[in-house]
Amino acid sequence: MKSIKLDISNILQFVSQDEIKSFQGKIDAAHKALVNKTCKGNDFLGWIDLPNEIDDNLLTDINNLAATIRAKAEILVVVGIGGSYLGARAVIEALKHNFDMLLPKQGKPLVIYAGQNLSEDYMADLIEVLDKHDYAINVISKSGTTTEPAVSFRILKNHIEAKYGREEAATRIVATTDKSRGALKQLADEEGYKTFVVPDDVGGRYSVLTPVGLLPIAIAGFDINNLIKGAADMRKLLLSDTSVSNNQASLYAAARNALYEKGKLIEITVNYLPNLYYFTEWWKQLYGESEGKEGKGIFPAGVINTTDLHSMGQYIQDGERKVFETVLTVENIRSSVTIPEDAANLDKLNYISGKNIHYVNQMAEKGTTLAHIDGEVPNLSISIPEINAYYLGQLIYFYEFACGLSGIMLGINPFDQPGVEAYKKNMFALLGKPGFEKETETIRKRIGKK
Ligand code: PA5
Repeated sequence: MKSIKLDISNILQFVSQDEIKSFQGKIDAAHKALVNKTCKGNDFLGWIDLPNEIDDNLLTDINNLAATIRAKAEILVVVGIGGSYLGARAVIEALKHNFDMLLPKQGKPLVIYAGQNLSEDYMADLIEVLDKHDYAINVISKSGTTTEPAVSFRILKNHIEAKYGREEAATRIVATTDKSRGALKQLADEEGYKTFVVPDDVGGRYSVLTPVGLLPIAIAGFDINNLIKGAADMRKLLLSDTSVSNNQASLYAAARNALYEKGKLIEITVNYLPNLYYFTEWWKQLYGESEGKEGKGIFPAGVINTTDLHSMGQYIQDGERKVFETVLTVENIRSSVTIPEDAANLDKLNYISGKNIHYVNQMAEKGTTLAHIDGEVPNLSISIPEINAYYLGQLIYFYEFACGLSGIMLGINPFDQPGVEAYKKNMFALLGKPGFEKETETIRKRIGKK
């Protein structure tokens, strides 16, 4: 079995092998606490065994429903926010055609997203598009009460019912939510929507391998069985040995904690394929929401090169020396486009004529890595044989497991997110939500409004 591989050689002039190995004790303890489910937040560790425990009947059910929706919808609207949409979007965007919105649909609905913002223009534009196309909705919310998706779904529910009638609309709406609690579950039961369950013991940002991610990915036409297989194979590797010499997640967790202790406070995930933009967004949520607590945590950022070499490149090369990078190095890509010879050669590119663009991209990557190391930016690299469902499954599980290890080593609970409540409290107070009367009075005084 081929596997994704972490290379730490380009951080060794900033932290030594011995310094990295000195984390082995902490890694062992964190690994044990994860696997034995004794760490903080241990009621949210269902993701550890997901790839192995996932029921074949559930996969069949998801694949069958996906086929039904593909047959009748040109567009799937995924309604969700945070962990309830980023995993699906990361995988779909990584695997899809770059210009799928302009291709004939051929039984593969275009997946678009709602409920991840509160932009009125976004919603108005979406409705304008949905007026003209056949569509279905997958509304995803574990709590069933998150404001952004709830607002979007209320509007879209009205739209789809007006367009198809209530009965047909109910066959075009699928709800992924808690098995028994919450407003969305109650609504789904009342309206007779097909539902899928978000397991109790899996938090949003660890939920891509549950129906939260699997259903939209399957509707988009991608192979969820191989995604799960990749994750299961990675799980086997990561559970069998804790050593930083043999376990990629241990090595990644040790390396980034060693760099953090040396004052590297920002980790930038770097990729050279725009399709991976949302994979980085998923990673940013996973690490930001898991580790950023109690005044601690590496700040997760992302760039897409070579685009961002013409914007963020300057800062990374030359700004505050608090940054390290983790480069996603993709070995093989799916297409072949070569640079043509040109008789006039006015652009002086004939020296690379006949070469594939990916080769040029790879040289840009190698050159950038060396330049950044010279600029005192440690570089980790994760090589990925190719972007397909199987390797994305490996990568997802690798990052989840390493995040658990890394967070435990930091001494925080990597599985909660108490900090996200602060903005909600203020927003509810400002909106005058019932139950927030005191907060409303206080906040209105604070901003000088009656
Ligand atoms: O990772 C998380 O737990 C969060 O990002 C949630 O997924 C997000 O807030 C959405 O929550 P819910 O699925 O309850 O609507």
